[in-house]
Amino acid sequence: MVKFLDLHHQYLSIKSEIDKAIADTISNTSFIGGSAVTEFEHAFAAYQQAAHCVGVANGTDALEIAIEALALPSGSEIIVPANSFISSSEAVTRSGHRVVFADIDPGTYLIDPSDVKRRLGPNTRAIIAVHLYGQPCDMDSLRELANAHSLAIIEDCAQAHGAEYKGRRVGTLGDISTFSFYPGKNLGAYGDAGAIVTNDTQLALRCRMIANHGRVEKYNHIMEGRNSRLDGLQAAILSVKLRHLDKWIDRRNEIAQVYLEGLAGLPDTHLPFVQTDVRHSFHLFVIRTPYRAELIKHLTEHGIETGIHYPIALPKLKAYEYLGQRDDCPNACTMDDQVLSIPMGEHLQPEHAEAVVMYIKQFNEQLLSLK
Ligand SMILES: Cc1ncc(COP(=O)(O)O)c(C=O)c1O
Repeated sequence: MVKFLDLHHQYLSIKSEIDKAIADTISNTSFIGGSAVTEFEHAFAAYQQAAHCVGVANGTDALEIAIEALALPSGSEIIVPANSFISSSEAVTRSGHRVVFADIDPGTYLIDPSDVKRRLGPNTRAIIAVHLYGQPCDMDSLRELANAHSLAIIEDCAQAHGAEYKGRRVGTLGDISTFSFYPGKNLGAYGDAGAIVTNDTQLALRCRMIANHGRVEKYNHIMEGRNSRLDGLQAAILSVKLRHLDKWIDRRNEIAQVYLEGLAGLPDTHLPFVQTDVRHSFHLFVIRTPYRAELIKHLTEHGIETGIHYPIALPKLKAYEYLGQRDDCPNACTMDDQVLSIPMGEHLQPEHAEAVVMYIKQFNEQLLSLK
């Protein structure tokens, strides 16, 4: 059996540290705010090489709060990649702005800066750079566009904790960035959790106020905000897991290497293009095949779990029918039929990845014999 995700295995590997962190938080009752949250915020800011980290309730709230903190004119257009989880676009609309999808690069599956350029209009105010699957976007090109057109860059780092672009951690390459600590993420809590990271002190302060009822101190609310706080138990768990994150990302890279070498040149199997000047954090390893359903069946029969990220490109979702961009992002809107996520995570040993390679090759041989 090769599991797609194994959170129980991970828990057992750090059980004593986690159990102690939970027991300590309960015994000192710092459930909301308090030392566990402050410690995690400092540790995560340091890890991401950023000046500020503001813990919030989840990665979707982090995006909404970050967008609100930028105080863009209402109804601004914000460019979002056509391949992402819906939070990246949902947060734009829910903050009172308009989504404009840009197509993706077919090699990296990430937002294509040349397509972003085509989407720019008089109301464009920001770009959401989603470092999808753990690989950083082409930030130099996005920065060039942003500078030329006075746009803000929001990095959606929900899948890219610890990833690096030209030697710098993602999260401070734009104006503000957001993280999800959903349990299955590379750095995952034991429930929902998220964070905003920035080097801009004023933006960080604004986010902190928005996330905590617009207050600067108890009962002194200088604006209306909302309740989106990181809770103490999640923060304590995240602080423990943060200490293991680099080792886990290294293991993910080791597994990716087995896939990249083992599956290279296989007919009808497109491998992700990994840029040379990045540290990919391999939240997901996504291949492409025109025989997806058949391959899933073959792998399932041999005990190998898979996933699809994402089966329906954002512009094709019913939720975005009103934008009429379905035929406008051909790469994202045709690849969604072919993308397949194969097992990836620190729970895997290279032997597991070798077994996955072996079964994919076996599938291809069977396919060839039928052709
Ligand atoms: C790219 C991306 N952005 C945002 C989010 C939202 O995070 P959360 O589930 O913590 O709200 C996710 C979560 O899956 C994601 O993958």
